[in-house]
Amino acid sequence: MNKITELLNIEYPIISAAMNWVTSAEFVAAVCNAGGMGVLGPNAGQKLHPTNLKEYADNLRNEIRKVKQLTNKNFAVNYIFPLDDSGTLPFGSLLFDIIVEEEVKYVVAIGNQMVASEMIKLKEQGITVIYRPLNPTVHNILEAEKHGADAVIVTGSEAGGHFSQYNLSLFTLLPQITAVVNLPVIAAGGIIDGRGAKAAFAMGAQGVYMGTRFIATVENPASPAAKQAIIDVKSEEILELDGVYERTIPTPGGKKAYQLINEGKSLDAVPYHKNGYKETLLLGNLDQGTISVSPSAGGIQEILTCQEVIDEIINYISY
Ligand SMILES: Cc1cc2nc3c(=O)[nH]c(=O)nc-3n(C[C@H](O)[C@H](O)[C@H](O)COP(=O)(O)O)c2cc1C
Repeated sequence: MNKITELLNIEYPIISAAMNWVTSAEFVAAVCNAGGMGVLGPNAGQKLHPTNLKEYADNLRNEIRKVKQLTNKNFAVNYIFPLDDSGTLPFGSLLFDIIVEEEVKYVVAIGNQMVASEMIKLKEQGITVIYRPLNPTVHNILEAEKHGADAVIVTGSEAGGHFSQYNLSLFTLLPQITAVVNLPVIAAGGIIDGRGAKAAFAMGAQGVYMGTRFIATVENPASPAAKQAIIDVKSEEILELDGVYERTIPTPGGKKAYQLINEGKSLDAVPYHKNGYKETLLLGNLDQGTISVSPSAGGIQEILTCQEVIDEIINYISY
């Protein structure tokens, strides 16, 4: 037991990350049933773009209900604070309403800054809030603590998906943050096995949040082609997209995106980047888009079950 297993009421302090298009009820439940905690991300369980917000909401509601049928363990849903200074929630109150109506008890909330009013709204409903700043600093983690977050995720720039504009590694950030906050800290970015988890725990983390490693699992809905691309790629081959704060495996679509973006084309002119999560990662059309991963993907050698990923870590660390 540690502060994270207690807070989330789970067996092991290992959380599978929210990932656009590549979480699903089956996957989330598999992580939960293996003793960790799964997080439903945007477009969970879908293969088509929703035609409107109502459809998006209905899909999420169904997926939450499905998780509850597949496991009686605790799971979380990705929540999104306003991403710019307008204070406007990307989905209006839609996400909040669904979370409350479906009695979701845990959220991983992402944002550029702590939004105190959002935090209060969630806490008033008795929801446990794990806050993940998109550009983590000592300052914004302390702000999250002040405004009542239950735990924080510190994401190093080795992370898959969108990484921090400050480009600070987990080794840089984590010890600075765990030295000054009292909240339990969860480490993210480049952790793929027990060795990485042990290092994070040595730096004061009490949990790990892993995306890339969990894509290459049997239960993840990503396409076999994308999973194989993760197994095959070497760390040094992974391409960084200039000014986008993302990387890609050099699939044909990834190479096209890299070329266009690094030539300075506007992102709107780079369909290969925008298509990535759905077309390539989920559907396996490797010439259509990017595959966003951590450079640690180079260390992933085989597709494992969620249980095997979790067991390897737990056998390696003593926390
Ligand atoms: C393909 C992919 C999609 C992602 N989509 C989201 C998302 O929709 N929402 C979110 O909060 N984070 C998203 N992330 C970030 C993850 O939640 C997590 O912070 C990251 O994967 C951790 O780093 P790791 O991949 O090195 O384990 C995504 C990551 C990946 C790899």
